[in-house]
Amino acid sequence: MSRPVFIAIDTPDLEDAQRLAKTVQRHVGGIKLGLEFFLRNGRAGVMDIAQLGLPIFLDLKLHDIPNTVAKAIMALRPFEPAILTVHAAGGRAMMEDAKAAAPAGTKVVAVTVLTSLDDEDLRSIGVGGQPQAQVERLAALAREAGLDGIVCSGQEVGPVRKAWPTGFFVVPGIRPADTATADQKRVMTPRAALDAGASILVIGRPVTGAEDPVAALRAIEGSL
Ligand code: C5P
Repeated sequence: MSRPVFIAIDTPDLEDAQRLAKTVQRHVGGIKLGLEFFLRNGRAGVMDIAQLGLPIFLDLKLHDIPNTVAKAIMALRPFEPAILTVHAAGGRAMMEDAKAAAPAGTKVVAVTVLTSLDDEDLRSIGVGGQPQAQVERLAALAREAGLDGIVCSGQEVGPVRKAWPTGFFVVPGIRPADTATADQKRVMTPRAALDAGASILVIGRPVTGAEDPVAALRAIEGSL
């Protein structure tokens, strides 16, 4: 990936998404479309944004029994997204079947611990210990299942990269110094996340909520 920044276009509105994608297209390495966009605009919407020629990261965070996830991915095959996400908590068999169902050129990556969760949130869903240990456990499982990499915060990516040097590491929860964290709890600056071992950085609101998204991206680029 030539430019490490993927912009998270988190809107269900096709026109807003088109406008933003066109505005930033020369300043990003790819475009991440999520569930809200996909549920509203479906295949036609994804195809429309893909026409810009940038790699598409379809962030649907699939999590179900292996058969259902594999069939969902088969249904997505015509898109040939550059990157697709499943939840590592779906287990090894689910991840194996997800990878087997995906187009050969699609990187299938596993979401480990959402960057909006901290220690207390983990405890409340029955996962003891720190996010770091849980991320490392799920990263090892994703690797064994044959996935291309994982999604984790910048705070965990260092040791995971060390243990899995060829892995593809997607890091959201990116916040340039002096921007609002909002609902993200495990955040890091773009420079620090790349230094720690991120393969790509997923950035949403610090750019999409900026008065001038291109200026925000230039500032981030300048910091890298
Ligand atoms: O606006 P912000 O930069 O917080 O957007 C982060 C994006 O990364 C969102 O689209 C969110 O769905 C996604 N994401 C995340 N944490 C994960 C996986 C994906 O925040 N663990």
